[in-house]
Amino acid sequence: MTRRIDIVEVGPRDGLQNDPAQLSTDQKLEFIERLEEAGIRRMESGAFVSPSAVPKMADSLDVFRRLNRARPTRHIALALNEKGIRRAISAQADEINFVLVAGEGFGHRNQGMSPQDSADMLARCAPLIHEAGLPLSATIAVAFGDPYDGEVSPTLVANLAAQAQRAGASEIALGDTIGVATPWDVRERVERVRLEAPDVYLRMHFHNTRGTGLANVFAAVDAGVDVIDASCGGIGGCPFAPAATGNVATEDVVYMLERAGYETGIDLSVLLQTARWLEGVLGHPISSSLSRAGGFPNAALP
Ligand code: COA
Ligand code: ZN
Repeated sequence: MTRRIDIVEVGPRDGLQNDPAQLSTDQKLEFIERLEEAGIRRMESGAFVSPSAVPKMADSLDVFRRLNRARPTRHIALALNEKGIRRAISAQADEINFVLVAGEGFGHRNQGMSPQDSADMLARCAPLIHEAGLPLSATIAVAFGDPYDGEVSPTLVANLAAQAQRAGASEIALGDTIGVATPWDVRERVERVRLEAPDVYLRMHFHNTRGTGLANVFAAVDAGVDVIDASCGGIGGCPFAPAATGNVATEDVVYMLERAGYETGIDLSVLLQTARWLEGVLGHPISSSLSRAGGFPNAALP
């Protein structure tokens, strides 16, 4: 039987939040529609954070209000505090993704919180999300290394995951915000998190900053993880992480998995057309390998 791997497209949020280009709300909506055309069924479509902290996400409420709800896509809203969660609920997000931090240095700069502050915030805010009847997932940012403090202990990551499980998160994403994970770290952290938070689904969020992105996807899938974050074109990064670069590119991940016999439900040709369109809208080259080489044996360059 073919194994299914679900891709969570994070281009409209993680991708655009750090790009030099400022897309209009109309362009963001077109990006989202094109991704849906390619078969994406779950995506981070915006962030309900302070507009002065992340100006590129300032129009997320408009983006959510104008989404085409006739489509089956689940639109995830990123939120980090009570105000963000309330705004995301009023925007009729289908899911809320909360951000926990596994490092002090990054945590204070990204959201003014220590790792334990972020877990406490989640515990305080989770009831709001449950009362609204929305699924709650939690991304543990800098789960493989902090740009300011260095190494992050797997014990802390597992402990945060356990607290997220207690708060009622149904899914936890391990975020390699600065692209320092290796495939062996991935296996170790997945095992540690499974021991401490056995009731949650696992999802992985890799940045390809140091070229280990696809190897890390392989390690995660090999360790039994079924949900992978990726961004079309490989755009993205965090404004609070120095030298941040993009997520693993959706087209590169889809190509690797489909060629290996996994099913993603995504049409690579349409996705590549979307990547090409995105490159034009952003006005600078995108970083995915597939956008340069095309697929094989099908989905050659559009
Ligand atoms: N949405 C919109 N505005 C918000 C907000 C939210 N979720 N949370 C706080 N604000 C506003 C407050 O209303 C306040 O506005 P004012 O100065 O006009 O009164 C201001 O932001 C400061 O509020 P405060 O509660 O003191 O927050 P803070 O300054 O400690 O910032 C965060 C906390 C989380 C809001 C902020 O650090 C942030 O948005 N970070 C974004 C991180 C991010 O998205 N990183 C990338 C993805 S991981
Ligand atoms: Zn990211």
